[in-house]
Amino acid sequence: MKMGWKTIDQMNLAGKKVLTRVDLNVPIIGNKISDCTRIKKIIPTLSHIIQNGGLPILVSHFGRPNGIRDPNFSFAKISPDIEELIGIPLIFAADCIGNTAELAVESQKFGGVVLLENTRFHEGETKNATSFAKSLARLADIYCNDAFSCAHRAHASTEAIAHLLPNCAGKFMEQELSTLENTLTKPQRPLVAIVGGSKVSTKIDLLYNLIHKVDTLIVGGGMANTFLFAQGFYIGASLAEHALKDSALTILRSAEKAGCRILLPTDVVIAKELNVNAESFVVPVSECPKASMILDVGPQTVEKIKESLLNTETLIWNGPLGAFEIRPFDRATSDLANFVSNLSNNNKLVSIAGGGDTLAALKNAEASNGFSYLSAAGGAFLEWMEGKKLPGITALQ
Ligand code: 3PG
Repeated sequence: MKMGWKTIDQMNLAGKKVLTRVDLNVPIIGNKISDCTRIKKIIPTLSHIIQNGGLPILVSHFGRPNGIRDPNFSFAKISPDIEELIGIPLIFAADCIGNTAELAVESQKFGGVVLLENTRFHEGETKNATSFAKSLARLADIYCNDAFSCAHRAHASTEAIAHLLPNCAGKFMEQELSTLENTLTKPQRPLVAIVGGSKVSTKIDLLYNLIHKVDTLIVGGGMANTFLFAQGFYIGASLAEHALKDSALTILRSAEKAGCRILLPTDVVIAKELNVNAESFVVPVSECPKASMILDVGPQTVEKIKESLLNTETLIWNGPLGAFEIRPFDRATSDLANFVSNLSNNNKLVSIAGGGDTLAALKNAEASNGFSYLSAAGGAFLEWMEGKKLPGITALQ
């Protein structure tokens, strides 16, 4: 038993049907999967179940079809690609409950897997309905949750189901949880967090939690503008949440009390428009002109961040430092991402990053490979960092 839940190694899987909650909510371009990371990550769990004589029955949501059978969100179109990626014979069931699902499970041999249709075609899924969870439970003997990225949802296939069958965490879930646990609760110090992104309002709980956990908090992205505004800097036409001025000041004061150093930009990249290759300038934070917007942190700030990372043992990163989707406002994020990647490659820093935008920014910087760990979770990563209990994890305990 680890952290209150069982691992899959502790389960007797021989001859057992294992309802395995995975996250196959993958990005699609056309009818093709554009990022296979989440699929590749579940292979160790599936192989383990099969090698130990069990039959994995894959269950997942896909998009947000709101209880309606929408072909755009059917696994039918990507099940051949999933089969190829996992390298295990797969039978697709056109429904996740009832006769169709039961027949698919009965017809699959041990050594293969069954993939059930999108759980969100039934409204019982997002309602966490016990009746829907019971229909899922009928298909299997054991429930294994291998989807950390869905653990922040109290849905039937992540929460209610765990109360109906003997349950355990899969290998990918275990990896995500133990990495994050080690990073935030028993880290090698100094521990630094970089938090970026556009809005303070979406990350306020995160900021409050982090100031009590980390030694230095680096704030970038649009949310830094709100802090600069709160400190009395003129920020021109920059994106900022003026109404959150007091919250920003409270965070700064609480950080000081908690002994957490907050690093805000001292210079910034400004432009009159957010367009590719728009004319841009670097100015000190005190000199943002009226019609200009702050769109990235400046090179002097990046150097300061690098300097502080040279004496850092562990870094946790969520959110880009600038408007990275549009060049040249990706510069600070890319420069820093490569710096972190090199330090990590040389074993001088343990670096963890997570969140959809963050991973996209690291990919854009071609720096993903050097990071010590990239979490495949978006919302769940954020809620975990906020110190919240995740229903999908609690249900396993
Ligand atoms: C994700 O992509 O973060 C998870 O699959 C959760 O998806 P959801 O936000 O639609 O619940």
